[in-house]
Amino acid sequence: MVDDVLFRPLAFRHLTVKNRLFRSSISGRIDNYDGSGTPARIAWEDRFARGGVGAIISAHVPVHIRGRILPNYATIDRDERIPFWQKVVDRVHQSDCKFILQLSHSGHQQDVGGVENLGLPALSSTNQRDFFHGFPTKAMTIAEIKEVVAQFAAGARRAREAGCDGIELHGCNGYLFTQFLSSAINDRSDEYGGELENRARLLLDVVSAIRREVGADFHFQVKTNGIDYNDALEPWQGEGNTIDESIQVAQWLEKAGVDALHISTGSYFPHPRNPLGQFPVATIARSYDTMISSGSHTLRNYLAFRYLPGLSTAIWQRTVKDLEPEAAALSQARAIKENVAIPVLSTGGYQTASVIREAINDGSCDGVSMARTLMANPDLPKYFAAGEDRAPKPCSYCNKCLMNVVENPLGCYDENRFDGDRAAMMKELMSFYGESDFTQEPR
Ligand SMILES: Cc1cc2nc3c(=O)[nH]c(=O)nc-3n(C[C@H](O)[C@H](O)[C@H](O)COP(=O)(O)O)c2cc1C
Ligand code: SF4
Repeated sequence: MVDDVLFRPLAFRHLTVKNRLFRSSISGRIDNYDGSGTPARIAWEDRFARGGVGAIISAHVPVHIRGRILPNYATIDRDERIPFWQKVVDRVHQSDCKFILQLSHSGHQQDVGGVENLGLPALSSTNQRDFFHGFPTKAMTIAEIKEVVAQFAAGARRAREAGCDGIELHGCNGYLFTQFLSSAINDRSDEYGGELENRARLLLDVVSAIRREVGADFHFQVKTNGIDYNDALEPWQGEGNTIDESIQVAQWLEKAGVDALHISTGSYFPHPRNPLGQFPVATIARSYDTMISSGSHTLRNYLAFRYLPGLSTAIWQRTVKDLEPEAAALSQARAIKENVAIPVLSTGGYQTASVIREAINDGSCDGVSMARTLMANPDLPKYFAAGEDRAPKPCSYCNKCLMNVVENPLGCYDENRFDGDRAAMMKELMSFYGESDFTQEPR
């Protein structure tokens, strides 16, 4: 292969990845209700490893059941979970692919909290419900903050014991760390609220506790926002953190011993800018019924999606309708990369070799991560290696995969990509439950 920056190894301090193409986190309900893992998860991750990415970043893995976003997702909240993650790691390693486990806590952004959390307000920086879904919320006490810090450290230790190649903190997109970091959400008056230094304290406490637990030589990256855009749906909400604030946080993270940064955007999830694309209102009107009992605004949202599709779409698309999804957040990664020395990954819409090549060559980032685009084409790295600029049937950014996630299997739901053959789409959606081989070799 000619020397192509896409396939040049990326050397972090304690981990080398064979290329610059990372599978970004894709959460979905494919494990057991109690948080134990299934063979479907192993087949799912294996599918991307065989496609040729250098590393897989798992979807959010809850460090405690109180912080899970969805049921039916494997957790890392107790030592009994270690053997399962070991199996995932072993399978992925068979394809010379690294496995980075994403540690997470939902805070008050729980799509479906699960029966254990029923009736319990979710833990957050604030007593205020989130503005979009209205999930019941309680401001954490200092004792609860310390407990969560310890839960992250224990999760990191378990990930190392499972043989993972590294960990990532889910430090963005509205989950617990955003709820502390964001000037628009955190309304505390103690040492965890107010100035940026205080709002970043939880994140930095967790970084120190993890380093103490796993040592200095275990790869540790943080996924963090460049810009929050907290006012994208409701202009009267605070805008949240700016790029300058995020640069400052990135520098503190680097100083605290973090090995790499993964730059995302948007202070809730999903957000009009993440993942950027269409707003498939008919799909969400169907699947959002799962969430109706979760929050005080969920019935309002459901009725709006179902009976006011035009208005819902217009509100969602208001600030993004002229944006191209591919590399839309690259300027945020670049701004952070210019101010730190550790490697920076960028996420958002990547599926064109020449675009990724340029992003790396011009110094905006060191590698990219991909979620929807790899879900549509798990063998995208093989297409790139064969000299193709794009897969023949690229991801359309229709976002139907995303809007199905609370209810239905993970995978690509754009029937047009299957030439209108619904049966073929269903076959692919179901295939990883049976460990079947459905890679798409480049022609
Ligand atoms: C169905 C779905 C689930 C996702 N789950 C997670 C997650 O668990 N953790 C996370 O950090 N990002 C998650 N993301 C965001 C992606 O990792 C990625 O950063 C974002 O979608 C932009 O990349 P893309 O345009 O290649 O999809 C998810 C995205 C999708 C579409
Ligand atoms: S459903 Fe398929 S085409 Fe649509 S955004 Fe998801 S992966 Fe891409």
